[in-house]
Amino acid sequence: MIDQYAVFGKPVAHSQSPFIHACFARQQQQSMHYVATQVEPESFAQQVDTFLQGRGKGLNITVPFKEVAWQLAEVKTPRAALAGAVNTLWRDDQGQLCGDNTDGLGLVNDLTQNLGCSLKGTSILLLGAGGAVRGVIQPLLEAGCRELIIANRTPEKAQQLAKHFAEAAGPSVMLQACGYAEIPAKAFDVIINGTSASLQGDLPPLSKEVVSAHTLCYDMMYAAKQTPFCRWASEQGATRVVDGLGMLVEQAAEAFYRWRDRRPDTAPVIALLRQSLAQQ
Ligand code: ATR
Repeated sequence: MIDQYAVFGKPVAHSQSPFIHACFARQQQQSMHYVATQVEPESFAQQVDTFLQGRGKGLNITVPFKEVAWQLAEVKTPRAALAGAVNTLWRDDQGQLCGDNTDGLGLVNDLTQNLGCSLKGTSILLLGAGGAVRGVIQPLLEAGCRELIIANRTPEKAQQLAKHFAEAAGPSVMLQACGYAEIPAKAFDVIINGTSASLQGDLPPLSKEVVSAHTLCYDMMYAAKQTPFCRWASEQGATRVVDGLGMLVEQAAEAFYRWRDRRPDTAPVIALLRQSLAQQ
């Protein structure tokens, strides 16, 4: 019987995960099948249970179920426990429901491995304070940044996050939170847009001082066309401007590794996905 995998979400029709995992499976010669399934909130817990009791070996969880999945998971990896959200589920040998959050590691792997940006000793400006940002803070801290400023339209939410992650940051990282108007007027090494503003064709109000030619500007969203944040960053003179397609493939690769104990080669899959996006 072929092992089954799925991504549960609502909506989920446009998910690229089936394509990505099919590429990984082919490349790694794994006999598995991965589908996207739209799930209703009322039946989410039941469907997770049914899927993983049967031939289902693993699940990815996307919007709006990552927090519910976190609550369901009986065993969580430390980074998932801290993130408060789970995007990968499986059952261990004892039958316990296990949860991980691979989003943050996906981002860090894209930055460090694909883009060659060592995060050690860097200053990072992280925009937003929603679920997407919550999932990436601990892996960014662990990657060794020197300074992490979380800026959000609603500053209180950023402050709550800074408080929540203060212990994980330890004394060697300067972890701060503020509103957009209070961001220090200096160029950062890395700026990461984790807001959903791009979805509305919008971008956070940033002063141009935060960008220099050497600043790596990263939008966690991706699109066939440049996102508003990427366009803005290019206009300010940033030479390294990247969207979140690599992060998407890297988080999938971490989930695949969890389930199949094999590390796929992500570069050809990112290239293929970029090509297919351009044709849409
Ligand atoms: P997600 O799970 O994608 O993070 P979310 O939890 O709803 O979604 O969070 C969305 C984030 O994008 C928040 O930080 C939000 O700012 P607020 O906390 O102030 O609402 C931010 N956001 C959304 N639209 C925005 C816009 N037009 N400009 C700036 N920030 C925006």
